[in-house]
Amino acid sequence: GKVAVLMGGSSAEREVSLMSGGGVLQALRARGVDAHAFDPAQGDLGALRRDGYARCFIALHGRHGEDGTVQGALELLGIPYTGPGVMASSIAMDKTMTKRIWRAQGLPTPDWRLVSDAAETAQALQALGAPMIVKPAREGSTIGLSKVSAPGQCAPAYQLAARYDPEVLCEQFIAGDETTCPVLGAGASAQALPVVRIVAPEGNYDYQNKYFGDATQYHCPSGLPGQEEQEIQRLVLQAFRALDCRGWARADIMLRASDRQPFLLEINTAPGMTSHSLLPLSARAAGISYEDLCLGVLAAAAL
Ligand code: DAL
Ligand code: MG
Repeated sequence: GKVAVLMGGSSAEREVSLMSGGGVLQALRARGVDAHAFDPAQGDLGALRRDGYARCFIALHGRHGEDGTVQGALELLGIPYTGPGVMASSIAMDKTMTKRIWRAQGLPTPDWRLVSDAAETAQALQALGAPMIVKPAREGSTIGLSKVSAPGQCAPAYQLAARYDPEVLCEQFIAGDETTCPVLGAGASAQALPVVRIVAPEGNYDYQNKYFGDATQYHCPSGLPGQEEQEIQRLVLQAFRALDCRGWARADIMLRASDRQPFLLEINTAPGMTSHSLLPLSARAAGISYEDLCLGVLAAAAL
């Protein structure tokens, strides 16, 4: 049957989503799938049922796409969709909720504070120590994120993050290797893919360095000792299961330089599929082409 590739949408990651969706659409069509682009910012989701779509590939990032809302609408419409369900998507979009669940399960994630103004941000810096990361609790692609080292940077960092989300998260900065690791599958058969190690210019893996230009280096195989690679994969699988994810996801992890302890930062339930994105890179290292990846994720679409 017909497949809708949901892309675009209204979040701050719209531009990224259009790149992801474009890649997925092209790959599915190349394999003979009757796939069509659908931008939820322009069309109403109810049209999907009227127009006879059998399944949806969710290539939306950020709020009103990756956060369980679109997943909920598709549940009501009875159209199977790719990736995690309503609850997992919703929790994963909120970095604070995610961290609470991981902590409760004994999984390592950096210390944090939720703040509601610049003064609380300054208090958080005292409590967490410098440097710390200030970011919107429900946003992606490092949009609205600052690294703060001195009290004078707290107010502008808070204001920038609050532009995107009234919930602002301060998080202890973990100095070390920046890594990411995808998971494919569900339940007992879920499997972690190879770890990607990211080396960004001056350690600054920001929006620009994520999606444009060639200044960021991606290592996959990661070059990490086998034991560290496996430890990250084990941790990411636990993180995936703790949120009851299914289909696919990609967790971001910092490997602390001082003692090589991995820390979970967040998990993305509609991982980027752009030409610069890391899940496709990791899949390729595991022998899975971009097209096979898209077909596999689509085949696992569920309600
Ligand atoms: N939020 C972006 C799309 C990612 O994590 O890949
Ligand atoms: Mg993210």
